Amino acid sequence: MRTVAVVLAAGSGVRFGAALPKQLLPLAGRALLEHSVAAFDQAPGVDATLVVMAPGHADHAREVLALGGYRKVAGIIEGGKTRPESTRRAIAALGPAECKVLFHDAARPLLDQATIAGCVRALDTYDAVGVAVPTSDTIVVVEDGRMTGMPHRDSLRRCQTPQGFRLSVIRKAHELALADPAFADLTATDDCGVILRYLPDVPVAVVPGSERNIKITYPGDLSIAEVLLSAGDSGTSDSGTSDSGTSDSGTSDSGTSDSGTSDGGTSDGGTGAADQ
Ligand code: C5P
Repeated sequence: MRTVAVVLAAGSGVRFGAALPKQLLPLAGRALLEHSVAAFDQAPGVDATLVVMAPGHADHAREVLALGGYRKVAGIIEGGKTRPESTRRAIAALGPAECKVLFHDAARPLLDQATIAGCVRALDTYDAVGVAVPTSDTIVVVEDGRMTGMPHRDSLRRCQTPQGFRLSVIRKAHELALADPAFADLTATDDCGVILRYLPDVPVAVVPGSERNIKITYPGDLSIAEVLLSAGDSGTSDSGTSDSGTSDSGTSDSGTSDSGTSDGGTSDGGTGAADQ
Protein backbone atom coordinates (compact mmCIF):
# COMPACT_ATOMS: atom_id res chain seq x y z
CA MET A 1 0.00 0.00 0.00
CA ARG A 2 1.17 3.51 -0.83
CA THR A 3 2.56 5.62 2.04
CA VAL A 4 2.32 9.41 2.07
CA ALA A 5 4.12 11.63 4.56
CA VAL A 6 2.44 14.89 5.53
CA VAL A 7 4.79 17.52 6.91
CA LEU A 8 2.74 19.92 9.04
CA ALA A 9 4.32 23.35 8.83
CA ALA A 10 1.39 25.70 9.11
CA GLY A 11 1.96 26.94 12.65
CA SER A 12 2.41 30.65 13.16
CA GLY A 13 5.24 30.20 15.65
CA VAL A 14 3.77 32.56 18.26
CA ARG A 15 5.85 31.00 21.04
CA PHE A 16 8.98 31.19 18.91
CA GLY A 17 8.51 34.89 18.27
CA ALA A 18 10.44 35.33 14.98
CA ALA A 19 9.26 37.47 12.06
CA LEU A 20 9.41 34.50 9.69
CA PRO A 21 7.66 31.21 10.55
CA LYS A 22 10.25 29.05 12.30
CA GLN A 23 9.79 26.36 9.62
CA LEU A 24 11.68 28.65 7.22
CA LEU A 25 14.49 29.63 9.58
CA PRO A 26 17.95 28.20 8.91
CA LEU A 27 19.18 25.15 10.78
CA ALA A 28 22.54 23.62 9.86
CA GLY A 29 22.58 25.20 6.41
CA ARG A 30 19.00 24.63 5.32
CA ALA A 31 15.49 25.62 6.30
CA LEU A 32 14.05 23.82 9.32
CA LEU A 33 11.25 22.43 7.14
CA GLU A 34 13.75 20.84 4.75
CA HIS A 35 15.12 18.50 7.40
CA SER A 36 11.83 16.61 7.68
CA VAL A 37 11.22 16.68 3.94
CA ALA A 38 14.73 15.30 3.37
CA ALA A 39 14.16 12.50 5.92
CA PHE A 40 11.03 11.34 4.07
CA ASP A 41 12.79 11.74 0.71
CA GLN A 42 15.39 9.25 1.93
CA ALA A 43 12.91 6.82 3.48
CA PRO A 44 12.44 3.70 1.33
CA GLY A 45 8.95 3.13 2.78
CA VAL A 46 7.60 6.55 1.84
CA ASP A 47 6.25 7.23 -1.67
CA ALA A 48 5.30 10.90 -1.56
CA THR A 49 5.38 13.94 0.72
CA LEU A 50 2.71 16.60 1.12
CA VAL A 51 3.76 19.83 2.82
CA VAL A 52 1.17 21.89 4.71
CA MET A 53 2.49 25.43 4.95
CA ALA A 54 1.50 28.52 6.90
CA PRO A 55 -0.91 30.67 4.88
CA GLY A 56 0.98 33.28 2.86
CA HIS A 57 4.23 31.31 2.94
CA ALA A 58 3.52 28.47 0.52
CA ASP A 59 5.34 30.17 -2.37
CA HIS A 60 8.41 30.71 -0.22
CA ALA A 61 8.36 27.04 0.82
CA ARG A 62 7.87 26.00 -2.79
CA GLU A 63 11.03 27.93 -3.80
CA VAL A 64 13.06 26.51 -0.94
CA LEU A 65 11.99 22.92 -1.62
CA ALA A 66 12.49 23.26 -5.40
CA LEU A 67 16.05 24.44 -4.79
CA GLY A 68 16.62 21.47 -2.51
CA GLY A 69 15.59 19.09 -5.31
CA TYR A 70 13.44 16.81 -3.15
CA ARG A 71 12.03 14.08 -5.39
CA LYS A 72 9.02 13.02 -3.38
CA VAL A 73 7.36 16.39 -2.73
CA ALA A 74 3.99 15.93 -4.39
CA GLY A 75 2.37 19.12 -3.21
CA ILE A 76 2.45 22.17 -0.98
CA ILE A 77 -0.87 23.37 0.39
CA GLU A 78 -1.89 26.01 2.90
CA GLY A 79 -2.89 24.90 6.38
CA GLY A 80 -5.58 26.20 8.70
CA LYS A 81 -5.74 28.23 11.88
CA THR A 82 -5.41 25.20 14.15
CA ARG A 83 -3.37 22.02 13.85
CA PRO A 84 -6.49 19.82 13.44
CA GLU A 85 -7.62 22.15 10.65
CA SER A 86 -4.26 21.75 8.93
CA THR A 87 -4.57 17.97 9.28
CA ARG A 88 -8.08 18.06 7.80
CA ARG A 89 -6.86 20.07 4.83
CA ALA A 90 -4.15 17.47 4.23
CA ILE A 91 -6.68 14.63 4.46
CA ALA A 92 -8.86 16.40 1.89
CA ALA A 93 -5.87 16.93 -0.40
CA LEU A 94 -4.93 13.25 -0.21
CA GLY A 95 -8.07 12.24 -2.09
CA PRO A 96 -10.22 9.13 -1.73
CA ALA A 97 -7.73 6.29 -2.35
CA GLU A 98 -6.72 4.32 0.75
CA CYS A 99 -3.10 4.72 1.82
CA LYS A 100 -0.91 4.84 4.88
CA VAL A 101 -0.39 8.43 5.98
CA LEU A 102 2.25 9.72 8.39
CA PHE A 103 1.67 13.13 9.96
CA HIS A 104 4.90 14.77 11.08
CA ASP A 105 5.54 18.14 12.72
CA ALA A 106 7.97 20.21 10.67
CA ALA A 107 9.07 21.52 14.05
CA ARG A 108 10.84 18.17 14.63
CA PRO A 109 13.81 18.29 12.24
CA LEU A 110 15.78 15.41 13.78
CA LEU A 111 13.53 12.62 12.61
CA ASP A 112 15.49 9.42 12.00
CA GLN A 113 15.00 6.64 9.50
CA ALA A 114 14.39 3.93 12.12
CA THR A 115 11.40 5.86 13.45
CA ILE A 116 9.90 6.34 9.99
CA ALA A 117 10.43 2.67 9.14
CA GLY A 118 8.90 1.63 12.48
CA CYS A 119 5.74 3.62 11.75
CA VAL A 120 5.37 2.31 8.20
CA ARG A 121 5.87 -1.28 9.40
CA ALA A 122 3.42 -0.92 12.31
CA LEU A 123 0.76 0.25 9.87
CA ASP A 124 0.84 -3.22 8.28
CA THR A 125 -0.79 -4.46 11.48
CA TYR A 126 -2.45 -1.41 13.04
CA ASP A 127 -4.72 1.33 11.72
CA ALA A 128 -3.17 3.93 14.01
CA VAL A 129 0.33 4.35 15.43
CA GLY A 130 2.14 7.04 17.38
CA VAL A 131 5.78 7.59 18.26
CA ALA A 132 6.50 8.04 21.97
CA VAL A 133 9.33 7.98 24.48
CA PRO A 134 9.34 7.18 28.19
CA THR A 135 9.46 10.06 30.62
CA SER A 136 12.31 10.25 33.08
CA ASP A 137 10.59 13.09 34.89
CA THR A 138 7.65 12.45 37.17
CA ILE A 139 4.56 14.01 35.61
CA VAL A 140 1.92 15.68 37.70
CA VAL A 141 -1.57 16.94 36.99
CA VAL A 142 -1.99 20.56 38.07
CA GLU A 143 -5.29 22.38 38.42
CA ASP A 144 -5.62 25.92 39.78
CA GLY A 145 -1.97 25.88 40.79
CA ARG A 146 -2.27 22.71 42.86
CA MET A 147 -1.18 19.14 42.25
CA THR A 148 -4.23 16.97 41.87
CA GLY A 149 -2.83 13.75 40.51
CA MET A 150 0.39 11.90 39.81
CA PRO A 151 -0.09 9.14 37.21
CA HIS A 152 2.39 6.30 37.58
CA ARG A 153 5.48 7.22 35.57
CA ASP A 154 5.87 3.77 34.06
CA SER A 155 2.55 4.16 32.29
CA LEU A 156 3.41 7.56 30.83
CA ARG A 157 5.04 8.42 27.52
CA ARG A 158 5.86 11.68 25.79
CA CYS A 159 4.35 11.80 22.32
CA GLN A 160 6.39 12.79 19.32
CA THR A 161 5.65 12.60 15.64
CA PRO A 162 5.22 10.98 13.14
CA GLN A 163 1.78 9.63 13.90
CA GLY A 164 0.55 7.21 11.26
CA PHE A 165 -2.88 6.02 10.14
CA ARG A 166 -4.85 4.28 7.47
CA LEU A 167 -6.21 7.33 5.67
CA SER A 168 -9.85 6.19 5.92
CA VAL A 169 -9.52 5.79 9.69
CA ILE A 170 -8.05 9.20 10.45
CA ARG A 171 -10.52 10.78 8.02
CA LYS A 172 -13.43 9.19 9.91
CA ALA A 173 -12.03 10.33 13.27
CA HIS A 174 -11.71 13.93 12.07
CA GLU A 175 -15.23 13.85 10.60
CA LEU A 176 -16.56 12.81 14.00
CA ALA A 177 -14.45 15.48 15.72
CA LEU A 178 -15.73 18.17 13.38
CA ALA A 179 -19.31 17.17 14.15
CA ASP A 180 -18.66 17.53 17.90
CA PRO A 181 -19.21 21.11 19.09
CA ALA A 182 -16.95 20.42 22.09
CA PHE A 183 -13.95 19.54 19.91
CA ALA A 184 -13.09 23.16 19.10
CA ASP A 185 -12.43 23.84 22.78
CA LEU A 186 -10.14 20.86 23.25
CA THR A 187 -7.15 22.39 21.40
CA ALA A 188 -6.10 18.96 20.14
CA THR A 189 -2.33 18.85 19.82
CA ASP A 190 -2.07 15.60 17.91
CA ASP A 191 -3.97 13.11 15.79
CA CYS A 192 -3.66 10.00 17.97
CA GLY A 193 -5.70 11.94 20.52
CA VAL A 194 -8.45 12.39 17.93
CA ILE A 195 -8.53 8.60 17.40
CA LEU A 196 -8.56 7.89 21.15
CA ARG A 197 -11.50 10.24 21.66
CA TYR A 198 -13.66 9.54 18.62
CA LEU A 199 -12.73 5.96 17.62
CA PRO A 200 -11.86 4.42 21.01
CA ASP A 201 -12.12 0.87 19.67
CA VAL A 202 -9.22 1.43 17.27
CA PRO A 203 -5.98 0.29 18.95
CA VAL A 204 -3.16 2.83 18.68
CA ALA A 205 0.24 1.13 18.57
CA VAL A 206 3.30 2.76 20.12
CA VAL A 207 6.48 3.01 18.08
CA PRO A 208 9.60 3.85 20.12
CA GLY A 209 10.86 7.34 19.41
CA SER A 210 14.18 8.98 20.04
CA GLU A 211 15.36 11.62 22.50
CA ARG A 212 16.94 13.38 19.53
CA ASN A 213 13.54 13.94 17.94
CA ILE A 214 13.02 17.22 19.80
CA LYS A 215 10.45 19.84 18.91
CA ILE A 216 11.68 23.32 18.08
CA THR A 217 9.39 25.56 20.09
CA TYR A 218 11.59 28.35 21.47
CA PRO A 219 14.65 30.05 19.90
CA GLY A 220 17.04 28.18 22.24
CA ASP A 221 15.83 24.87 20.81
CA LEU A 222 17.48 25.73 17.48
CA SER A 223 20.90 25.84 19.17
CA ILE A 224 20.21 22.46 20.79
CA ALA A 225 19.22 21.03 17.39
CA GLU A 226 22.44 22.43 15.83
CA VAL A 227 24.48 20.62 18.49
CA LEU A 228 22.57 17.36 18.03
CA LEU A 229 22.95 17.52 14.26
CA SER A 230 26.68 18.17 14.49
CA ALA A 231 27.05 15.33 17.01
CA GLY A 232 25.45 12.89 14.57
CA ASP A 233 23.77 9.73 15.80
CA SER A 234 26.34 8.86 18.43
CA GLY A 235 26.14 11.97 20.54
CA THR A 236 22.94 11.14 22.38
CA SER A 237 21.26 8.21 23.96
CA ASP A 238 18.05 6.86 22.55
CA SER A 239 15.79 6.09 25.42
CA GLY A 240 12.79 5.42 23.27
CA THR A 241 12.89 1.71 23.80
CA SER A 242 13.45 1.58 27.50
CA ASP A 243 12.07 2.87 30.74
CA SER A 244 15.27 2.19 32.55
CA GLY A 245 16.28 5.65 33.47
CA THR A 246 18.27 6.50 30.37
CA SER A 247 19.07 10.14 30.32
CA ASP A 248 17.67 12.83 28.14
CA SER A 249 21.21 13.54 27.04
CA GLY A 250 21.00 17.23 27.47
CA THR A 251 17.95 17.61 25.34
CA SER A 252 15.31 17.43 27.99
CA ASP A 253 12.30 19.65 27.70
CA SER A 254 13.23 21.73 30.70
CA GLY A 255 13.33 25.35 29.78
CA THR A 256 12.40 24.73 26.21
CA SER A 257 9.42 22.57 26.55
CA ASP A 258 5.99 22.64 25.08
CA SER A 259 3.62 24.00 27.57
CA GLY A 260 0.94 21.70 26.35
CA THR A 261 -0.72 24.38 24.30
CA SER A 262 -1.20 24.44 20.60
CA ASP A 263 -2.02 27.01 18.01
CA GLY A 264 -3.47 25.38 15.63
CA GLY A 265 -9.74 21.95 4.46
CA THR A 266 -8.79 22.58 0.79
CA SER A 267 -8.59 19.73 -1.54
CA ASP A 268 -6.41 19.50 -4.54
CA GLY A 269 -7.14 16.06 -5.60
CA GLY A 270 -4.77 13.38 -4.52
CA THR A 271 -1.32 12.83 -3.18
CA GLY A 272 0.39 12.73 -6.49
CA ALA A 273 -0.88 16.01 -7.78
CA ALA A 274 -1.33 18.64 -5.15
CA ASP A 275 -0.76 22.26 -5.99
CA GLN A 276 2.99 22.34 -6.50
O1 C5P B 1 1.86 24.35 17.84
P1 C5P B 1 2.53 23.02 17.87
O2 C5P B 1 3.92 23.13 18.36
O3 C5P B 1 1.79 21.93 18.54
O4 C5P B 1 2.67 22.62 16.34
C1 C5P B 1 3.13 21.35 15.96
C2 C5P B 1 3.24 21.29 14.45
O5 C5P B 1 1.96 21.54 13.86
C3 C5P B 1 4.21 22.34 13.89
O6 C5P B 1 5.07 21.72 12.96
C4 C5P B 1 3.29 23.35 13.26
O7 C5P B 1 3.85 24.00 12.12
C5 C5P B 1 2.08 22.51 12.86
N1 C5P B 1 0.86 23.31 12.82
C6 C5P B 1 0.13 23.36 11.64
N2 C5P B 1 -1.00 24.15 11.57
C7 C5P B 1 -1.38 24.90 12.61
C8 C5P B 1 -0.66 24.84 13.83
C9 C5P B 1 0.45 24.02 13.91
O8 C5P B 1 0.49 22.70 10.66
N3 C5P B 1 -2.42 25.71 12.48
